[in-house]
Amino acid sequence: MDVTILGGGYVGLVTGAGLAELGHRVTVVEPNPARRGALAAGRLPIYEPGLDVLVQRAQSRGLLVPAAAWNPGQPADLILLAVGTPARPDGTADLSQVKAALEQIRSGLAATTCSNQPPLVVIRSTVPPGTTRWAALQLEGLAPVAHNPEFLAEGTAVRNFFYPDRLVLEVCNPADAHRLLDLYRPLLEQRFCVPLPDGDLRGSGRPVPVQVTSPEESELIKLGANAMLATRISLINELARLCETCGARIAEVAQGIGMDPRIGPAFLRVGVGWGGSCFGKDLQALTAAAAERGIHLSIPVAAYQANQEQRRWFAAKVCRVLGGLRGRQIAVLGLAFKLGTDDLRDAPALDLIRTFLAGGATVTAHDPLAVDRCRTEFPHLPVRYAQTPLEAARGAQGLVLVTEWPEYAALDWTALRQVMARPLLIDGRNFLDPAACRQAGFTYLGVGVPEPPGEGSSE
Ligand code: UGA
Repeated sequence: MDVTILGGGYVGLVTGAGLAELGHRVTVVEPNPARRGALAAGRLPIYEPGLDVLVQRAQSRGLLVPAAAWNPGQPADLILLAVGTPARPDGTADLSQVKAALEQIRSGLAATTCSNQPPLVVIRSTVPPGTTRWAALQLEGLAPVAHNPEFLAEGTAVRNFFYPDRLVLEVCNPADAHRLLDLYRPLLEQRFCVPLPDGDLRGSGRPVPVQVTSPEESELIKLGANAMLATRISLINELARLCETCGARIAEVAQGIGMDPRIGPAFLRVGVGWGGSCFGKDLQALTAAAAERGIHLSIPVAAYQANQEQRRWFAAKVCRVLGGLRGRQIAVLGLAFKLGTDDLRDAPALDLIRTFLAGGATVTAHDPLAVDRCRTEFPHLPVRYAQTPLEAARGAQGLVLVTEWPEYAALDWTALRQVMARPLLIDGRNFLDPAACRQAGFTYLGVGVPEPPGEGSSE
């Protein structure tokens, strides 16, 4: 099929490269010349594991073509909208990019005299309830509109594309469902083999469940799923704070909770607070959409506030164990909001660093992927970036682990302790082996873990 994707960000590129792998001819419309130029030159404007190989394969087969603008004369069975819907200052979703894309499609279709059936316009962007019906009105009946939310998580987006838990779709006219089902057929039937350097991705053979819903349901499934996930993490983080006051270990508590099949173990990992471009934005969009309809959603608000509190609580803990921030040198391991990405949007590391700096500390930081992006996006952040964790740790009074990069688990803790001014390690993800760190001479503190006598207070 011929597919045009408006928007060459995470969702647009992963979806585009994935669809090309399934044999579709994909045009990715990306107005930003730098991003488009990178793509045309075979480079990725974003980091996502496995995506570079997919994009190169698609481009070598001529199945993935970047373009500056949508060409109404070019055949398209489907147009997928994968543009951004950032939060406005009042929390509502900014739909200006969706609106501009629809206007482009409307005027393009109105000006073409082609007798082919019009493309199915599919909204993949995360949007508040009511947007798909509104989009259909914007197109004035020139093309049918559908909603098909994405459930791609950064760092695992390629796998998430090929092994979806479910396909949720909404089409105004049931006949249009076939176009979307045909588009995803190899995924739905789990019949594919994608050669990747670290092992082929092969279809599981188990059909993927399809849920056909109304537009409002489809829109709320996406927002509700993210709200549910964020709420789980916020709650487990709150329980971790409680654990520290009553001598309980959060890992045990989370394990016991997650063994209930009605709850399950996923998304119960504690940390310094969740981040990224989706959870915070979507909680706010959901709350704002409800407020516009006179409904007060207290849980998304509480989940959001609890997450902000988790970041403050963790920063305060670092301050307490260091005996104050003024004059301290703190080494931060990990800047990205999660492992497997260089994305810094709403990254807790940035909040922590700003708090440390505001308290009078100096900060050295290491991240295996995100340093260049941090330098570019936050040129005025007075942080010294280190090439290695050892370099970051040199002379520091405290080492704070923020992102759970696997290489940090394999560090030589004895070597790190030797270069530090004080062997204090605060593991914001409960990711490291406390026994190994303590054996190397560190005072080790985690999140929601009782502090051994004598540890957890300033020297
Ligand atoms: C999230 C959802 O997981 C995707 O299903 C969704 O498609 C995507 O948003 C989106 O709306 O586009 P993403 O934000 O990329 O994906 O990453 P997650 O894996 O959900 O992690 C979000 C944050 O939660 C990260 O900071 C992560 O470290 C944190 N987290 C996650 C925890 O603190 N604990 C956990 O147990 C899991």
